[in-house]
Amino acid sequence: MPDISEDGRTWLLTGPTSGYAIHLTDDHELLHLHWGPRITLADAEALAVRPLPDYWPFESPLDGREEYPVEGGPRFARPALSVRTQERRGTEWRFEAYEAEDDALRLRFRDGGLAVTLHYRMRDDVVERWATLDNDGPEVELLRADSATWTLPDRDGWRLSQLHGRWAAESRLVRSDLTYGEKVIGSRRGHTGHQHLPWVALDTDATEERGEVYGCALGWSGSWRIAVAQLPDARVQITGGAGYDDSGLLRLAAGESFTTPVFAGLWSDGGYGGASRAWHAYQRMYVIPDAGEDRPVLFNSWEATEFDISEEQQRALARRAADMGVELFVVDDGWFGARTSDRAGLGDWTPNPDRFPGGLKPLADHVHGLGMRFGIWVEPEMVNPDSDLYRAHPDWVQHQTGRKRVEFRNQLVLNLARDDVRDYLWERLDALLSSAPIDYVKWDFNRCFTDAGWPEEAYPQRLWVDHVRSLYALLDRLRGAHPGVDFESCSGGGGRIDLGVMSRTDQVWTSDNTDPLDRLAIQHGFSQIHPARVMAAWVTDSPNTQLNGRVSTLRFRFVSAMAGVLGVGGDLTKWTDDELAEARKWVSLYKEIRPLVQRGDLYRLRPPQGGPSAVQYVLGGETVVLAWLEAQHYGEPVPALRLRGLDPTASYECRETGEVHRGAVLLHHGVRAGLSGDLDAAVLQLRRI
Ligand code: DGJ
Repeated sequence: MPDISEDGRTWLLTGPTSGYAIHLTDDHELLHLHWGPRITLADAEALAVRPLPDYWPFESPLDGREEYPVEGGPRFARPALSVRTQERRGTEWRFEAYEAEDDALRLRFRDGGLAVTLHYRMRDDVVERWATLDNDGPEVELLRADSATWTLPDRDGWRLSQLHGRWAAESRLVRSDLTYGEKVIGSRRGHTGHQHLPWVALDTDATEERGEVYGCALGWSGSWRIAVAQLPDARVQITGGAGYDDSGLLRLAAGESFTTPVFAGLWSDGGYGGASRAWHAYQRMYVIPDAGEDRPVLFNSWEATEFDISEEQQRALARRAADMGVELFVVDDGWFGARTSDRAGLGDWTPNPDRFPGGLKPLADHVHGLGMRFGIWVEPEMVNPDSDLYRAHPDWVQHQTGRKRVEFRNQLVLNLARDDVRDYLWERLDALLSSAPIDYVKWDFNRCFTDAGWPEEAYPQRLWVDHVRSLYALLDRLRGAHPGVDFESCSGGGGRIDLGVMSRTDQVWTSDNTDPLDRLAIQHGFSQIHPARVMAAWVTDSPNTQLNGRVSTLRFRFVSAMAGVLGVGGDLTKWTDDELAEARKWVSLYKEIRPLVQRGDLYRLRPPQGGPSAVQYVLGGETVVLAWLEAQHYGEPVPALRLRGLDPTASYECRETGEVHRGAVLLHHGVRAGLSGDLDAAVLQLRRI
């Protein structure tokens, strides 16, 4: 329950280590007071009576201090809320009421017919924030309605961390000094995008294990924007929400509402590593469905067979996968409609009669008979022009009258904002999941929006938001109707990874880049925010067939992929008996360490920067280290790895060497993983004795 001052104008939310305080002035301004270590209500009240700087007339004292800056009045910083009606633009609200219960706080303001409610919910040390806009007056256009604005304390020398990328090179961590002005990241592509994960972190002097880190992550799977601003007086605010531009999200007629996605914020004084562990724990506890259940080892057919698939060949792969210890067999693209290449078939979600004459059930039964679960690939939001669906409904795609329909990968985007499209997809997918014993759906999305028009609709702009709402509604409904089916979020690799989609899928496809060395950097970035429990990683063929032809050992490929949810994606029909036997051992080892990887605390011991790198997972009295050596230069010995998260007074036995190590020695002097040469990898399991 939040602490509330007697006058009902100062509120303090408290987590296990952190506090968050806000204050309402007599002029109905909602000011940010504190975000950082725990404080008392008396501390917050002392902050509340501090006078605002006397800045007029060229600066506004409100800038950089308001919880949810609106457009209008004496404000020059970026507004979180920008609205217009027939008569006027901007907002001048009055406070109406607050409600506090359990871990939540709601503050309601009103401007004419528009009620603005700011929501806060404390989830351990993560503050979830979002806003609802309820209109009971004349039509209001929401030009911009961000989820939240976060305010950082006055400090010198802020640094910004972000996860940038592109296809096959997602989630790469960069850190730079913040300077005056704004740094804007986001997506105007209709999906979360490969280019940025919707996350930022700010610090002034943090290291991997020490110092204050502020992080913010948005739960939205469409276009989005996060703006980090260093204002003229050096104050820093982070504003974010759905949509990229300020040109209109939705129109609200009388009686209509909009709820923004959640923008979650975390303060940690445990450095980047501590912040990551807190984010991981939060997602496992509050975001990811059934996160207490470990994810199975899967096989995916994509790199093995691409579009050239047949039932017999999938059965052969399944037999080899089962023999290796795989628990879930997924048939990727190519099983449906006329999908013999990427030029046809998307939209026709019935098994290809030449390839699967009896439908999917015989293959699913075969896979089940081998002791594995059975999964399929779909891309429901898309259509090939060469498909029965498009021939029947050419008006169902996003398009503008009289303009060309841009084809990426020979496909167009269905307009999911249309009720008929959403209904069709529900019926088709529900029928598909009822037609065969399907346990798993890999849900892909392989192109960005380019022609986001909707000729019959008076306000086509709403298509951007409503596409995402429909996607969420479909996933929720399918999960409700088929509770035994798990879902994977994929978008040409990691193009749709965010807290929104993660709350309704079981794991995500991290990247189409399955090169085990490139993956270390991608996984390093991914781990800044998301846990290994959702990070799918496959062992594929060597030389790598998808990207760079790099040759690597099975050992290196497996240890790289074992840092997440292990999968196998190579052409097993071409693997030798020795390779299959070795793979069986690695899969078996993964199953032993899986609880630690998927549910343990992650420590990044050394980042992948050309030399040795390592991660460590700790769960109870057990720990496992995965270590890699990209290249050993000048014959230099590889440094010992200092472990973390252990009891210095305990002793630990190493499973691989049989050696007993003292906890204090492991923590302060480390252990050698036995790495040498190029592209080497090692696993060390230690158990407290
Ligand atoms: C893109 C995905 O990321 C791949 O894993 C694969 O499913 C292909 N699409 C299939 O078209």
